Amino acid sequence: MCGIVGIIGNSQVAPLIVDALKRLEYRGYDSAGVATLSEGQLDRLRAEGKLINLEKRLAEKPLKGTIGIGHTRWATHGIPNEPNAHPHFSDGVAIVHNGIIENFGELRDELKADGYSFASQTDTEVVAHLVARELKAGKAPREAAHAALKRLQGAFALAIMFQGDEDLIVAARSGPPLAVGHGDGEMFLGSDAIALAPFTNAITYLEDGDWVVIRRSGIEIFDMEGQAVERQKQQSVGTTLLVDKGNHRHFMEKEIHEQPEVTGQTLAHYLDFANGGYKELDSAIDFKNIDRLYISACGTAYLAGQIAKYWFERYARLPVDSDVASEFRYREMPLDKRSAALFVSQSGETADTLASLRYCKGAGLAIGSIVNVRESTIARESDGIYPTLAGPEIGVASTKAFTCQLSIFASLVVRAALERGTVSAEEGAQLVRSLSEVPRLIKEALKLEGEIAELGRELSEVNHVLYLGRDTSYPLAMEGALKLKEISYIHAEGYAAGELKHGPIALIDKQMPVVVIAPFDKIYEKTASNMQEVAARGGRIILITDEKGAAHTSLDGIKTIIMPNMSEFVTPIVYALPIQMLAYHTAVAMGTDVDQPRNLAKSVTVE
Ligand code: F6R
Repeated sequence: MCGIVGIIGNSQVAPLIVDALKRLEYRGYDSAGVATLSEGQLDRLRAEGKLINLEKRLAEKPLKGTIGIGHTRWATHGIPNEPNAHPHFSDGVAIVHNGIIENFGELRDELKADGYSFASQTDTEVVAHLVARELKAGKAPREAAHAALKRLQGAFALAIMFQGDEDLIVAARSGPPLAVGHGDGEMFLGSDAIALAPFTNAITYLEDGDWVVIRRSGIEIFDMEGQAVERQKQQSVGTTLLVDKGNHRHFMEKEIHEQPEVTGQTLAHYLDFANGGYKELDSAIDFKNIDRLYISACGTAYLAGQIAKYWFERYARLPVDSDVASEFRYREMPLDKRSAALFVSQSGETADTLASLRYCKGAGLAIGSIVNVRESTIARESDGIYPTLAGPEIGVASTKAFTCQLSIFASLVVRAALERGTVSAEEGAQLVRSLSEVPRLIKEALKLEGEIAELGRELSEVNHVLYLGRDTSYPLAMEGALKLKEISYIHAEGYAAGELKHGPIALIDKQMPVVVIAPFDKIYEKTASNMQEVAARGGRIILITDEKGAAHTSLDGIKTIIMPNMSEFVTPIVYALPIQMLAYHTAVAMGTDVDQPRNLAKSVTVE
C-alpha cells in the first residue's frame, strides 16, 4: 500500500528519499514520486512503475533541496500513471497521501465550484486544493493544514510541504500508520520505522487523529481539536534488522527456507518442551473463563484462524467464530459477554482487522492479537499480544508469518485445553511433543523442493487449478489456492473435498489439475473417494500425503508428494510447505514478479 517519506535535512534529500522509498517497496506500489523545496521553489518528479524509473528521471534532472517528501502509490482512485502519482501540487502546496478520502467527491464539487481545476483523478488532490484555499484565505501554513484536515473523512496518512517555508512539514494520521524519526538537527517521516532505519531509530509513532508540525529543531503534536498531545519517543527494535535476500533469488524463497528456524523460535517462546507444558507468559485471554472466542483477520492470516478454529474446538472444546475481518465488523452479530477476541495480522496495520478490533474493544471484550510487527497499531491497541518471532516478512505472499501464526495458535490451544481440563496432562504433553517436532519436519519437507519445482513447471502451463482438503487441510487448500493465484496469476480455488460434488466437479476435465491435501488420517478414505471422482472425469491429480496415504491410493498416473510421517495435530503447519513451494516454483517458471506481484500490497491500510 502507499508509502510516505519526508525529510527535513541538511544535505540534498532527493536521493535519501528514494532510498527510504526503496525500503517501503515491499508494501506494494505502482508509481512513485518525490518533491523538494529549494530557494523558494517547489519541484517534483514522478514516474509510473518501479522506483528505477523515478531514479532514471532523477539522474537526468536532479532535484535540489534539503527538504522533501516522497511517495510510492498503490492506486485506489485513478489508474497508475504519472498524473495520478504523488506528490500533488496546488498553489505552493505539495502533498503525499496514503489511504482514501471518502468524502472526496463532495469536496471536489465544492472546490470546482470555487474555481479549482483538477490535474488528476485522485482523491488526494482535493486535500492539496483545500490547504491552498485556506492559505489563500490568509491562514498560516499549520493553521491552513489543520483547517483542511478537519474537513476530511476516511482513512489517511498525509505529509504536506509549503513553498516559502523550508523548515516545515505538516503530517497527519487518521488510520494508516506514520512514524516520525528524530535525527540530530534533522527530522524524518515515514510510513514505518523500516523506512527510517538508515537515518535513526529514535521514533515517535503518531496515534489516530494526531497531526504533527515537524521542524529541524523538533516536533509538536496536536489532536484534531488543536490541543497539544504528548507521544513517547521510543527506540525502534525493527530498525536494526537488515532486510536482504541473502543467497536467495527472492525474499519469498528466503522466507520459505527460514521456517524451520522461525517456527522453532516461536514455539519455544510459548511452550515448555522440557516439561511438556506451556510457559506461564501473560495472556490477554483467560481461556478458562470464556465460552466463546472470536478470531478475525484477512487473507492468509484469516486462513490461519480457520485452522485454529478446528484446533480450539477439538482439543479445548472452545467454540470459535472465525471471520474475515471485513465481514465481521459489519455483520452486527450479538457478541457473547463471556468471550474474548483474537486478531491475527502479520503487518499489524490491516485496516479491516484493526476496525474489527476496535469494534470488539467497544463491546468490552478482552483483546489479544497475534502480530509480527510489535510496534504496529493492532499490537498497540490490544490488551495483550502474542508476537510471532518470524522476523521481517518482505515477500508480499505470506509464508513464514503463516506458519508462525499457526505455531502460536497451536501453543494457545495446548494452553487452553490444559487450563479448561479438556485434555489430561499426559495428552497435553503429547501435543507439545508433536509440536517440538515441527522444525525438523519442516526441514524434511524442504527436501521435497526439487520434485515440487518440477510440478511447478507443469502447473505454469495451465489456466486453472483446484485445491481440495478436509478438516484442517480444507483451510490449507484455500491457502494453497490463494498463494498460487496471488503470485502466478493462475486462477485457483480451494474447496472442502466433500463439497466437490456440489458444484466444482463440473469444472473437472483433462486440463484441470487438482491438488489434494490428504495426510493419512481418520478421514483419508473420504478424501480418497473424492479423488476417485476427479480421476473418473479425467482430472489431473497432485496428491500431497504421507507414505500410508500414498500406499492406500489405488489410482494410477497421479503425482504424489510424500511428506514425512507426523502427528495429525501438526499437519497444517508442515503441509503449508509443499503448497508454498508449489506456488513459488510455478510463479518462478512463469517469470512473474514473485516478491511484488501485480496489484497487491503487503500492508493493506484501506478498507
Ligand atoms: C497472502 C497475504 C495476504 C495477507 C493479508 C493480511 O499471501 O499475504 O492475504 O495475509 O493481506 O495481512 P496482515 O497479516 O498483514 O494483516
